[in-house]
Amino acid sequence: MLEIVNLSKRYGETVALDGATVSFAAGTVHTIMGENGSGKSTLVKLLSGIVAPDRGEVRLDGARFDGRNPPAFQRHGFATVFQEVLVAPDRTVTDNVLLGYDGIIHRRLPRRARRDTVREALALCTPGTVDPDAEAGHLPLATQQLVVLARALVRKPRILILDEVTAALDFTDRETVFTLIERLAREGCLILFISHRMDEVMRLSHRITVLRSGKMVETLDRADATPELLLSRMAPEILAERAHG
Ligand SMILES: Nc1ncnc2c1ncn2[C@@H]1O[C@H](COP(=O)(O)OP(=O)(O)OP(=O)(O)O)[C@@H](O)[C@H]1O
Ligand SMILES: [Mg+2]
Repeated sequence: MLEIVNLSKRYGETVALDGATVSFAAGTVHTIMGENGSGKSTLVKLLSGIVAPDRGEVRLDGARFDGRNPPAFQRHGFATVFQEVLVAPDRTVTDNVLLGYDGIIHRRLPRRARRDTVREALALCTPGTVDPDAEAGHLPLATQQLVVLARALVRKPRILILDEVTAALDFTDRETVFTLIERLAREGCLILFISHRMDEVMRLSHRITVLRSGKMVETLDRADATPELLLSRMAPEILAERAHG
């Protein structure tokens, strides 16, 4: 469904992503793993239209699709939850969940439908209740994370990109989000899952791509992956140290 071919992006002297080539299939949880600074979020930004590649291309359903144009990505079914939790701090939870989906002046949804849409999206992420009228900036970080997750879900994406979303969540909400991810994948959604946590990766992934210093090291099936193997691909020097120390 989605392919990146020889995709590269540099920031000044830093080569953030260096010739990455990966195919992503609908209905899978495809994890991107790698140490800090290995290029994961750069790939996320390239697949959200936030930045354009220097070289290479993104292909969606076989056709070239890239460039700096977030609304175009959204129209084509991409939704991204970025690593930095971005709420509009002085707007309500409802406004934040519908941000960019429902216009502020020309509202797509009537008031009642707005409420229901927001409540349903939040319920997918947490068994707890979130006050739809609360000012988002005053909420704990974990709740803000749920709000931005709900914002992505409202769009009913074909491609849902989650950059370290579980880091801020408590156990119950994390479990709820995992169940949601598994269900969305069964329904045909492609989930691009970025995580540092080996237990999450081993549990959720169908495919795993490892990045190291901006380079795509390997893409493997979950059945072929072990924590040791993944660690050796991400950070061979750590394993070597262990072997010698
Ligand atoms: N806007 C930017 N300007 C300059 N350098 C950048 C920028 N964004 C990323 N980089 C650099 O590009 C490299 C890859 O960064 P990226 O954020 O993609 O890594 P990451 O794998 O997401 O790391 P982390 O696990 O810490 O989130 C790093 O060396 C980073 O410092
Ligand atoms: Mg990152």
